[in-house]
Amino acid sequence: MSFKSPAAPNTPYFTPAQKTPAGAALSANPPTLFTPIKIRDVTFQNRIWVAPMCTYSADNGHLTDFHFSHLSSFAYRGASLTIIEATSVLPNGRISPEDSGLWTDSQIAPIKRLADFLHSQGQKLGIQLAHAGRKASMMAPWLVKERGKSVVASEDANGWPNDVMGASAIRWGEGFAMPREMTAQDIRDVVNAFRDSAKRAVAAGVDVIEIHAAHGYLLCSWLSPISNKRTDQYGGSFDNRIRLLLEIIKEIREVIPSGMPLLLRVSSTEWMEKSGEPESWDVESTIRLAKILPALGVDLLDVSSGGNNEQQAFSPYNDYQVDIAGQIRSALYENGIKDLLIGAVGMITEAEAAKSIVQNGKEGPRDPVEIESERGQKTKADVVLVARQFLREPEWVFRVAYRLGVEVQWPVQYLRGKFLRGSNI
Ligand SMILES: Cc1cc2nc3c(=O)[nH]c(=O)nc-3n(C[C@H](O)[C@H](O)[C@H](O)COP(=O)(O)O)c2cc1C
Repeated sequence: MSFKSPAAPNTPYFTPAQKTPAGAALSANPPTLFTPIKIRDVTFQNRIWVAPMCTYSADNGHLTDFHFSHLSSFAYRGASLTIIEATSVLPNGRISPEDSGLWTDSQIAPIKRLADFLHSQGQKLGIQLAHAGRKASMMAPWLVKERGKSVVASEDANGWPNDVMGASAIRWGEGFAMPREMTAQDIRDVVNAFRDSAKRAVAAGVDVIEIHAAHGYLLCSWLSPISNKRTDQYGGSFDNRIRLLLEIIKEIREVIPSGMPLLLRVSSTEWMEKSGEPESWDVESTIRLAKILPALGVDLLDVSSGGNNEQQAFSPYNDYQVDIAGQIRSALYENGIKDLLIGAVGMITEAEAAKSIVQNGKEGPRDPVEIESERGQKTKADVVLVARQFLREPEWVFRVAYRLGVEVQWPVQYLRGKFLRGSNI
């Protein structure tokens, strides 16, 4: 008898075909969490994505075997999208000297290796394109002795403290470099760098691009009237403050395939409502921005928060950010905007929570009706993004499925390791 182990297609080496991608539901009528979602030409087999996580481990911007092992471990265990950490579009846009980058062609190859592998497993790769702005040139957090503090990476530590730039010459806070106010040339350079990095990401074979406009990094700081005090066409009014972001979105959308999903991560509020500042970037500002996004080709808003101010004030509880995602989703729906998907992120660690955040009503994917079994809770998002729980449990997708009683595909090599029925998982 001759019988060959079927190979994964389009892969430069033999690896067994995964006929059904890991993380796909095998049970009938699974909860929405384990139903596919199609965005443009890309279909995700479930609604659980790995959020971008900096690891401060790159070699002059190049991903290494660490990233390959780290990111692929989530992907082949069934996360339907794994997003590469904040990847800088310019050398001076790295948070730390060891950040990932995509400002030069030699950085394409390690990303392509990862994309090829994930594709061989039937999984999808995203990348978050970023510029750290006034929060650039910092030491990796574990090198800082005092917890919660920051230390500038000096030139001796491969930093660039004299080439840090931002919307205005306002330092983020103690332990951060003093930024210069970006010139018209700096602005053109940043816009071009986002466009060129997006092209490189396409060349590397990524499936999804996310623009990082959250956590006080460059694009986030331009949105806020507290950190953006410019007097040109990029400062002052709401329309002026969002201008740089919109220019970048347009440039990226023009150079990526029309079938490729484009995501945007924002800080939905900078948590400065109680600061006494006359105006800050808040949830209302995000809703106003969100309404403009579908026409620009943004498919999904990834709703994060904070990071733009030292004085931010908020009390995190499990759903603090997920509730904002729900608020934005409802506001869009009420305004008839149904073509911007919403991603919820932040402290999602439990199977039931993940399930109820994305659970749809009977009318289908954009039906926000209340769910009786969830005590009147509304659908809050279309996908969940999860960061720290994947560091603790790379097999979190399998655990969630098991806890919800959903049978899902495991990688063929791991089939003998599936959780046994009745085990206490
Ligand atoms: C180690 C680590 C690195 C992170 N790096 C990034 C990043 O590169 N880009 C980003 O937008 N958010 C980053 N975040 C934030 C996460 O993507 C996520 O929004 C946050 O951790 C909340 O989700 P969680 O409660 O599931 O961890 C990082 C978080 C952690 C823990």
